[in-house]
Amino acid sequence: MKISMTNQKQAQGQRTLLLIIITFLTITTLVILLQTLTLRSSFHVSPPCDLVLNETRSKLQDMITFLPLKDLRYTHNPFQVHTTWFMSSINDIQEMDQAHHLYFPSKGKILCLHGHDPSNGANNSYALTWPEVLPAGAKLLSGLTFISETFYDYTNLWHGLSAMTPFVNWYQNKHCMVPERWVLFHWGELRLRMTPWLETLMEVSIGRKVKIEKFNDDGDRPVCFEKAVVFRRNEGGMSKTNKEKVYDLMRCKARAYCDVGDQYHGLEKGKKKVIRLTLFLRVGSRSFKNETTVVTVSGEECRKVDGCKLRVAHSHNLSFCDQVKLMSDTDVLITPHGAQLTNMIFMNKNSSVLEFFPKGWLEFAGVGQYVFRWLADWAGMRHEGAWNDPNGQKCPYTDNAECFTFYKDGQVGIDEGFLGKWLARVLNEVKEHKNNINGQANLSSSACSCSLV
Ligand SMILES: *[C@@H]1O[C@H](CO)[C@@H](O)[C@H](O)[C@H]1NC(C)=O
Ligand SMILES: *[C@@H]1O[C@H](CO)[C@@H](O)[C@H](O)[C@H]1NC(C)=O
Ligand SMILES: *[C@@H]1O[C@H](CO)[C@@H](O)[C@H](O)[C@H]1NC(C)=O
Ligand SMILES: *[C@@H]1O[C@H](CO)[C@@H](O)[C@H](O)[C@H]1NC(C)=O
Ligand SMILES: *[C@@H]1O[C@H](CO)[C@@H](O)[C@H](O)[C@H]1NC(C)=O
Ligand SMILES: *[C@@H]1O[C@H](CO)[C@@H](O)[C@H](O)[C@H]1NC(C)=O
Repeated sequence: MKISMTNQKQAQGQRTLLLIIITFLTITTLVILLQTLTLRSSFHVSPPCDLVLNETRSKLQDMITFLPLKDLRYTHNPFQVHTTWFMSSINDIQEMDQAHHLYFPSKGKILCLHGHDPSNGANNSYALTWPEVLPAGAKLLSGLTFISETFYDYTNLWHGLSAMTPFVNWYQNKHCMVPERWVLFHWGELRLRMTPWLETLMEVSIGRKVKIEKFNDDGDRPVCFEKAVVFRRNEGGMSKTNKEKVYDLMRCKARAYCDVGDQYHGLEKGKKKVIRLTLFLRVGSRSFKNETTVVTVSGEECRKVDGCKLRVAHSHNLSFCDQVKLMSDTDVLITPHGAQLTNMIFMNKNSSVLEFFPKGWLEFAGVGQYVFRWLADWAGMRHEGAWNDPNGQKCPYTDNAECFTFYKDGQVGIDEGFLGKWLARVLNEVKEHKNNINGQANLSSSACSCSLV
C-alpha cells in the first residue's frame, strides 16, 4: 500500500515537470517566431493583400476599352465576310448549320454595353471585361440575355421574324436555355419594342414572357451581362434543316397556345377529305382592285373540285390566335404580297401559297419580291408562283427607287382567265396530294420539344 502511494507521487511529479518543459519550449518558439516576423517586416514593407488586389483591379478597370457599337468605317458596306459594323472588332462563331453569332463569356470575358442611344448607333458602345473587373459604376445583369441587331426592323412581321428565328433556333439547339431579357438594336440604335404579333410568337415559342431591356433605370451606367448571345446577321449561316426545325417549333407551339385541335388538320380519318381554300384579303394598300372578281372566280373553281371549301378573311383585324387558327385551317392561301403572308408558317406543311403583286414590283422591287418564296421554302410550304399585275400608271420618275415607292402600295388588278386556270391546277394538285397522304398528316408532336437536337 505504502509503496504504491510513493509511486503515485513520483508519477505526478514527473508529469508536472513535463508540463513545465513543454510550456517553456512553446513560449520560446513563439518568441523566436515573433522576432523573426518583426525582423522581416522591418526589412521590406508588404501592403495587405486586398490593397494589392484593389490596385490591380483598378488598373484592369482602366484598361477596359469601350468601342462604338456601330463602326462608321463600314457604313458603305455594313456586312463584311468576317464582321459587320455592329461590334466590328469581334468575329462570328461559325458552327456547322447554325446561324453565325457571338457568345459571352468568351475566353472568360463578359460583354458590357453603353446602349441607351435610340438614334445614334455610333454613340452607343461595347466592351469586354472579366466578371471580377466591371467598369466603374457598371451594373451586372444575371442570367442569359438575347441581344439582337438587325439592319431592318422589329415592327414588320417578315423582317422581325428574320431577326428572331436564330434566337429560337439557338434556344431549341442549346438545351432549351431561356433568356431573362432581350436587348434590341437597329444599326446600333436601341429599340424598345417589337410588333405584338412577333412578341407573342417569341413568348409562345420560348415559353417565357419577353422582357425588352430599356436601360432607363440605370441612367448612363454601363450594363454588363453574365451570359449573352448576339445575333447580328439574321438567319445568316443557318442550314435549311435548322430553318425548317424552327418553323416546326413555332407552328407546333403556336397551335398549342391557341388551342388549335385536330379539327383543323382537315384530314380526319374516315371523313371526306376537304380542301380548304382561303382568300386572305387586305384593306387599303395592296388590296385587290376588285375583290368581288377574285371571290367569284375562286368560288367557281372551288365548286368544280370535290371537297373544296372557300373562306374569305381580312387580315387587318385578326388577333394572333385568329391568324394561327385561320392558317391551321387552310390548304391553299390566296393573298396579295404583304406582312400578313408571314402567317403561312402556321399552315400544315406542304400547303400552297398564291401571291399577288401590284404593278411595279416585278420591275423595281429587286430581291424584296422573293421574300415569301424564301419563307415558303424554309417553312416547308409550296409557293405556287406570283401574279404580277401588268396594268397601271406609268412611273413619272427616272430613278428606280423612286419608282418603287411610287408603285409599292398600289392596288392589285386581276386577269380572271389567268386566275381561274392557275387555281384549277393548284386545287387539283392539292386534291391529288391529299389522296396520296391518306389521312396521316399528324402534326409531329416532337416539333414542340426544344431539346431534341
Ligand atoms: C478594396 O476594395 C473593396 C471593395 O471595393 C473595399 O471594400 C476595401 O476597403 C478595399 N481595401 C483596401 C485596402 O483599399
Ligand atoms: C451621346 O449620348 C449622350 C448621352 O447618352 C448624349 O448626351 C449625347 O448628346 C450623344 N451624342 C450624340 C452625338 O448623339
Ligand atoms: C368588279 O368586277 C365585276 C365583274 O367581275 C364588275 O361587275 C364590277 O363592276 C366590278 N367592280 C368594280 C368596283 O369595279
Ligand atoms: C374585319 O374587317 C372586314 C373588312 O373591313 C369586315 O368585313 C369584318 O367583319 C371584320 N371582322 C371582324 C372580326 O371585325
Ligand atoms: C410534303 O410533300 C413531299 C413531296 O410530295 C413529301 O415527301 C412529304 O412527305 C410531304 N410532307 C408532309 C408533312 O406531308
Ligand atoms: C396520328 O395520331 C393519332 C393520335 O395521336 C395516332 O393514334 C395515330 O397513330 C397517328 N397516325 C400516324 C400515321 O402517325
